[in-house]
Amino acid sequence: MTASKLSPKRCVLFDGFAGRGRFETGAPGSAEHMMLAAQKRKGSTQIDLLLVERARAEYESLDSVADEYRSRGIRIHSYHGECGDHLGDALKLATDASLFLFLDPCGAVLPMGSIREVLRQRGSWPRTEVLLNFNADLIRRAGGQLKKGQLDLGGVAQADQVCGGEWWRDVALQAHETSGGQTWESAADAVALQYARRLTEGTPYGSVVAPVRRQIHHQPVYYLIFLTSQPHGFWVFGVSAAKARERWIEFLGPDPDERESMLWDTVADQVDREHTKAVAHITDNLRALTADGQAKRAVDHVTDIFGDLYGEAKETAFTAALRELVKSGDLEYVDKGKKPRDFVFRRAA
Ligand SMILES: C[S@@+](CC[C@H](N)C(=O)[O-])C[C@H]1O[C@@H](n2cnc3c(N)ncnc32)[C@H](O)[C@@H]1O
Repeated sequence: MTASKLSPKRCVLFDGFAGRGRFETGAPGSAEHMMLAAQKRKGSTQIDLLLVERARAEYESLDSVADEYRSRGIRIHSYHGECGDHLGDALKLATDASLFLFLDPCGAVLPMGSIREVLRQRGSWPRTEVLLNFNADLIRRAGGQLKKGQLDLGGVAQADQVCGGEWWRDVALQAHETSGGQTWESAADAVALQYARRLTEGTPYGSVVAPVRRQIHHQPVYYLIFLTSQPHGFWVFGVSAAKARERWIEFLGPDPDERESMLWDTVADQVDREHTKAVAHITDNLRALTADGQAKRAVDHVTDIFGDLYGEAKETAFTAALRELVKSGDLEYVDKGKKPRDFVFRRAA
């Protein structure tokens, strides 16, 4: 999408903590997902990859997976080394192309300053988007060490580096104390939100912070932080997150506490219940959004439409809500674009 208005249509995908490319089970890792995407789009968009991996064994696996796709005509640059040393290569390769930066370390991500510098150098055209893994454990551990005055254990210094300064220390301690001083969950939440705000401050970029958990009631393992300068980015990220969340709930299976006493499939039930709730929520939001009588294009009103259910409600909840409101005569289509996000609608006269 980000390359669709470029000529030639070219996009660079950067996987800075690439891993082995393909898991031992044969399932694709992030890098092979990128290769598959590049192969799928080959006829319409040139997608070039730049991959970096520090561990020798992982790199060898990565490079041999890359060879398979190179032999099919995909351009892949792979480096055995430090992610931070190759940002300049990514910027150079992405001259006149759109750029997607994926940063998925197991621990600390790049210092904030280097990511901000990429945003600064890129500006907003051609488009750039970033998806990064912000480690919640790192903040919890560093917060614990800070509270006990264990500044020599490394966690605090690492968090200072990731966060681009010491500002996170007060944010974490304050959230920790306010939540009763027992756990660091709210501290990690507060720091992740503030991190995303500071990362994009003074740039044309906005952010989404999505907590990732192993189980619904667990504390987040990490936060996925997505940066984009475009409403389309927010729309697509939100509906993709909702789809992924549904697959994850199906993968987890029924809640063991519920399964004992239920005769029906509680997963399908949960998905249905959530969908019905989402349609009702979005119906209210669409009524409020159109109350002023002005025509509205869906993609320009992501937050107004999805509200608290952004990242949980599926696109089909939006289309179902809108369809019903048009059917009941409350709203009318002004323009029915190709995709739901392009729909333009207003309150019926
Ligand atoms: C969480 S894994 C990435 C998994 C990958 N996204 C996937 O889907 O398969 C993080 C990887 O980053 C590598 N790594 C850690 N620090 C690095 C650095 N500074 N530069 C490049 N790679 C690094 C690790 O060796 C590890 O393979």
